[in-house]
Amino acid sequence: MCGIVAYIGTKPALPILLEGLKRLEYRGYDSAGLAVINEKLHVAKTVGRVRVLEDMLEQRTRTEHFDGTLGIAHTRWATHGEPSDRNAHPHSDNKTNGHGIALIHNGIIENYAVLKTWLQDRGHTFNSDTDTEVLAHLVGELYDGDLETAVQSALREVTGAYAIAVICEQEPGVLVVARKGSPLMVGVGKDEYIVASDSSAIVAHTTQAFTLDDYTVAKLTRDSFRTTTVDNVPITPQIRELEFDLEQISLGAYEHYMLKEIMEQPQALRLCLKGRIDTRAGQVVLGGIAQFARDLVKARRIIFVGQGTAMHAALVGEYLMEDLAKIPTEVEFASEFRYRNPIIEEGTIIIAISQSGETADTLAALQEGKQRGALALGVVNVVGSSVARETDAGVYLRVGPEIGVASTKAFLGQVMVTALLATFIGRRRFLSADYVSNLLRELEAIPDHIDKVVKLSDQIREATAKYIERENWLFLGRGHNYPVALEGALKLKEISYIHAEGMPAAEMKHGPIALIDDGMPAVFVATKNSQYEKVISNIEEVRSRGGHIIAVATEGDKHIRKLCQADEDVFYVPDIPEPLQPMLTVVPLQLMAYHAAVLRGKDVDKPRNLAKSVTVE
Ligand code: AGP
Repeated sequence: MCGIVAYIGTKPALPILLEGLKRLEYRGYDSAGLAVINEKLHVAKTVGRVRVLEDMLEQRTRTEHFDGTLGIAHTRWATHGEPSDRNAHPHSDNKTNGHGIALIHNGIIENYAVLKTWLQDRGHTFNSDTDTEVLAHLVGELYDGDLETAVQSALREVTGAYAIAVICEQEPGVLVVARKGSPLMVGVGKDEYIVASDSSAIVAHTTQAFTLDDYTVAKLTRDSFRTTTVDNVPITPQIRELEFDLEQISLGAYEHYMLKEIMEQPQALRLCLKGRIDTRAGQVVLGGIAQFARDLVKARRIIFVGQGTAMHAALVGEYLMEDLAKIPTEVEFASEFRYRNPIIEEGTIIIAISQSGETADTLAALQEGKQRGALALGVVNVVGSSVARETDAGVYLRVGPEIGVASTKAFLGQVMVTALLATFIGRRRFLSADYVSNLLRELEAIPDHIDKVVKLSDQIREATAKYIERENWLFLGRGHNYPVALEGALKLKEISYIHAEGMPAAEMKHGPIALIDDGMPAVFVATKNSQYEKVISNIEEVRSRGGHIIAVATEGDKHIRKLCQADEDVFYVPDIPEPLQPMLTVVPLQLMAYHAAVLRGKDVDKPRNLAKSVTVE
């Protein structure tokens, strides 16, 4: 979950590398470093954010020549070796009789301990606790004047996941990069190449890029490139146009990416729906999976796999699939599913849900289901990501890039796409054209409804401020809104560091109700639907034990206002059909978490200990 960027060209590399690191900092931000070749290798690295590295370079560049046109840079999310100056990347090969090699890495070298012993037996001494330094020393040990060959040889010895970029003082015109498991793409410019973990660090320079496949090595010079497998078999990559521009990944007038992404959800869902619904014909158009329509109609079981917010979207998808398509559906934590001996019978479809498309557990669960014979589909946001490329087919969210670590618009996109998928199948199984036309009109109206809900932001901030000192919150919902309660709790936890628990409201009586003390905030998702009366009695249970109610309710519901005390808060959302309510009810909870984090002075876009995509297990 680190960020990698590298540059070879004719421009000074330093400003390009630093700009790239800032764009990738959401991937990991506990330490940063870079190396530039200008006659010799110049390395700067430090614990802390990219701005700490910038300050360091401010000093260092007064006396050192970091103005080369070849360089590599890294922002870290520690796996092996705590965040520190010596564990920060880049790592170099052996000090004594080294070749001036610098290497950066995203991933995990699983057999690094064995390799380290082998290298120590050959006189290597190590300065850090990282697996990455072992790889740098291995490349150095195998170096014989050709960096590409040395990297290929070294990678044939390692097991695990890697995206790497390597430079060598003795070859100031060569950049070598490689990938297996962790994402890496190459931006193709005029007499320059910019390599990065994702396109957000590339779009400022070029919109032409190719993604490296697993076990692929690319040798880049200022005017050409060559791609091979680690066994040196030449391959031709597919260069494609990147799907978004710089403006989409800029903060604009917003203070934080999370707020920007919450506020742009109406537009994001309009893009997600574009060209996919034909209300008159009562048809859903999903070109990406159309070739498997018959398999979907005959499906006997659907298994959703995902982690975190994606898993919560899958839980809403389970209700939608069983409601609209009438197919038995299960939801699994990918991290559990991949190691459980899952039974996959004929007619099973596995659907991986992932914003980044790079979550290691979700990718592995998908591969597990696929190798056991399931049809493997994906609901993914990042085009060309590993999950997308591993599936037989899939549906992209098209909600645009999501930068904020706390996922918001991707959740809505994931729920909207599962609703479209369930309707696509349901229309081919039981649902009439009329029923589907009405449902599609309701789906089409959701972006406008959300336009109204996001306007509650100030009211939600005031309400949240009342409970900002409380360290324990409960989130409660039933039916389709139960996963929304889970999602609300996750959002609050991950960016405000308040402990919160989400659960089905009926579960409270079986234990958690003991937690309720005077003034404890209990957030209820209490919109008008088949479970409304039950939720109301759950509210009274909490009330009678001194809990403070915050409710998300249906516009016009006077009863719940009367039920709540004057100093308690009710946020109203438009009245829509029950199965679709999660797409509205989650928005006030996103805003609550956002305001709680801001009011508690937390770093909203880069919460501690987290990273945007978890590419190691
Ligand atoms: C959600 O806000 C978190 N960033 C995290 O739980 C995330 O949803 C999870 O890691 C899955 O990520 P993915 O959708 O990219 O696979």
